[in-house]
Amino acid sequence: MENIQEQEVFTMPRIGDKAPEFTATTTHGEINFPADYKGEWVILFSHPADFTPVCTSEFMTFAHLEEKFNKANCKLVGLSIDGLYSHIAWLRTIKDKIKFNGMKNIEVKFPLIEDISMNVAKKYGMIQPGESKTQAVRAVFFIDPIGTVRAVIYYPLSLGRNFDEIYRALIAMQTSDKFNVATPADWEPGNDVIISPAGSCGVAAERMSGTDELECEDWFFCTKKLDKDVVLNEILKK
Ligand code: BEZ
Repeated sequence: MENIQEQEVFTMPRIGDKAPEFTATTTHGEINFPADYKGEWVILFSHPADFTPVCTSEFMTFAHLEEKFNKANCKLVGLSIDGLYSHIAWLRTIKDKIKFNGMKNIEVKFPLIEDISMNVAKKYGMIQPGESKTQAVRAVFFIDPIGTVRAVIYYPLSLGRNFDEIYRALIAMQTSDKFNVATPADWEPGNDVIISPAGSCGVAAERMSGTDELECEDWFFCTKKLDKDVVLNEILKK
């Protein structure tokens, strides 16, 4: 008879899935996720451990940018497989002692989940045993105002995240939702956007005959202008 090895089940939310629900203790009290964030975007992100340098640099950067994310109707929630008192001590140390990239005296105001039980980390595929069996990888989940996972980025333990890209992705997805367009490679607000592909021979022919609004490289690749101020006025809170 074959040996049956006990295998732990790790789930991994996919784009388009409902964000797995949980309640958790955080540095700002209990949260009920994603229900507490209904009507807002939320970035749920994990880091390997408190009191580690790459994580510290990331927390300082996210805390520094928090207001910018909040203005785009997006809240931040962090997580690591550490306890609450470790989280509190680490955040106090960051504020009191650490300087990084010109930042100092940085107060982390967003909640940090304690996940010693790995309950949340397992639900969100943050434990990737090939990388570490005890520490979460650097996961970033973008969850929209109705609780749907819209994008996921995973980084290994050694690689600090690029927060400009995280912000760019958030604004690009909101732009796609608001204006019913797609965004091309390296898109930033003010760049041309892509309109949905022609769905019939008639529309393809129409597009190739030229319109004032569209610029078509070919029948399947048409862009239009979308003013930066129009995008930002629609997305950013006044
Ligand atoms: C860090 O945040 O510095 C780190 C954490 C775990 C493994 C490697 C680096």
